[in-house]
Amino acid sequence: MSLLGHGVVGYSLYLRSFADTNGNGEGDLRGVIDHLDHLRGLGVGLVWIAPFYPSPMVDGGYDVIDHCGVDARFGTLDDVDELLDSAHSLGMAVVVDLIANHTSNQHPWFIAARASRSNPWHDHYVWADPSDDGGPPNNWVSYFGGPAWTYEPSVGQYYLHLFHAEQPDLNWRHAEVRREYERILRFWLDRGVDGFRVDVAQGLVKDEHLRSNPQTRSLDPGDDRIRQWQAFEHDRDILQPETRDIFRRWKQICDEYGAILIGEVSVDDPERFARLLGDGGLDLGLWLEPMHVPWSAHELRRVLGAPVQLTTNHNSIGWQVSSLDEPRAVSRFGGGERGRRRALALSTLMAFLPGVPFIYQGDELGLEQGRIDPGDRVDRVGGEPSAGRDGCRTPMPWNTGPMAGFTGGSQMWLPFSADAPSRSVASQTGQTASSLERHRSLLAARRHHCPDPNTAVEWLDDLMPSLLGFRRGELTVIVNMADEPTTIALSGKIVFDSQGSAGPDVLTTSDTDVNLVHLSEAQAVVVRSWRSSHSGPAGYE
Ligand code: GLC
Repeated sequence: MSLLGHGVVGYSLYLRSFADTNGNGEGDLRGVIDHLDHLRGLGVGLVWIAPFYPSPMVDGGYDVIDHCGVDARFGTLDDVDELLDSAHSLGMAVVVDLIANHTSNQHPWFIAARASRSNPWHDHYVWADPSDDGGPPNNWVSYFGGPAWTYEPSVGQYYLHLFHAEQPDLNWRHAEVRREYERILRFWLDRGVDGFRVDVAQGLVKDEHLRSNPQTRSLDPGDDRIRQWQAFEHDRDILQPETRDIFRRWKQICDEYGAILIGEVSVDDPERFARLLGDGGLDLGLWLEPMHVPWSAHELRRVLGAPVQLTTNHNSIGWQVSSLDEPRAVSRFGGGERGRRRALALSTLMAFLPGVPFIYQGDELGLEQGRIDPGDRVDRVGGEPSAGRDGCRTPMPWNTGPMAGFTGGSQMWLPFSADAPSRSVASQTGQTASSLERHRSLLAARRHHCPDPNTAVEWLDDLMPSLLGFRRGELTVIVNMADEPTTIALSGKIVFDSQGSAGPDVLTTSDTDVNLVHLSEAQAVVVRSWRSSHSGPAGYE
């Protein structure tokens, strides 16, 4: 698949916070057009744009009322066309979000569906009669906490919502729902989009009989939403085998246009993750587990290694250190310079594993999680002000001018993160040690040195426990996970050094000599062996 071709890098663009051109304090499509050079300069080949569809914004645009329109706050369909043309002329592909598990409760389909049981749209959503005690029909819980069912008095039934109550789940066992989405796919493909990021790809089809999930531990009313979700085996509400049939059909349609299907596969089990990939299904699955583990060699080795081992098409893993839904990596890993060093080291590992790394907007600047005052919070999904989803969605600082160049207006939908003024694109450009320049170098190294997708990954598990690394063909990638410096013997040429201090770039001139390389805390190096074949140990001794 050429769009996911050799060395390609994705960019996850959070539209509302990227760049505002109309002064309303929210990013818009024209802001993306104006800053495509930033993405090109980073070496991005594939841009995934967060939803711009008309939406009441209960869930940041993931509650859609018209899948074929553009919300006026973000621009117009003409802007989409211009954005596609401009990106294509710069050699970048554009992928849009496809939200298919649910719609907004303000969508005309749902308004009709809840009008009466006899309305032809009723069965487009998942409805069930109350249980014998009048409560919800089964024990399913929402990803956002609480029961996944809400009672609708006008029809005397409950409707299902795996997210907010304002996001009713569609009934993917209904042929008409499938037909509607094929129409939506073609609408965007005809306009020239290069593919879709399928939201909640593990969702869609539900158990035919809506049976309860096995419960693995008791629920405490004080449990947060993640603990509530984890109290069940999710055998019936997600990951039904029929979901793959839908992706196969979508894939056939995408193939007519040379487009791709990327799935957000939110499961913690790598085997379940691998099940949705390949074989006519998704071209690529976004694997989210690396965002859920601490800075630990053992934990990172586990979550980086498992999907690689289990997926048959090795280019099919999408890697992210941060996302629009998770606390930023810099903050997860301790914040400040230490957090930045660690986040970049993890990005380095991901850049040379099989698959496609996605930079989440602002990570290239080393941005920290924003701390949003309770009064300024927008997202309803829980957590402390620093841990909720607003904190990773703060606006991009572009320059040192007013409002950091994000908007010409005087207000913004969310405040900047505290570090934004000092971390703008303009102030980091040309500063070799900056996060931005290091990301540019990392992605350039990936473009030039990324091994073929099928080059095996050999984890260097016999190294010191505080080192994490692997060898792929002629490349060796090593990170010092310890809090203190260490020394390792390496030979070859350093093609990327996350801190620029490991030693001379050229370590030796022969394949038998080795150099002692000093790695500081959280320093990553990528070394290319002098050897042209892989007959013996290459890159490290
Ligand atoms: C995905 C999106 C998230 C959204 C959810 C429901 O996980 O990334 O932002 O809330 O789907 O649509």
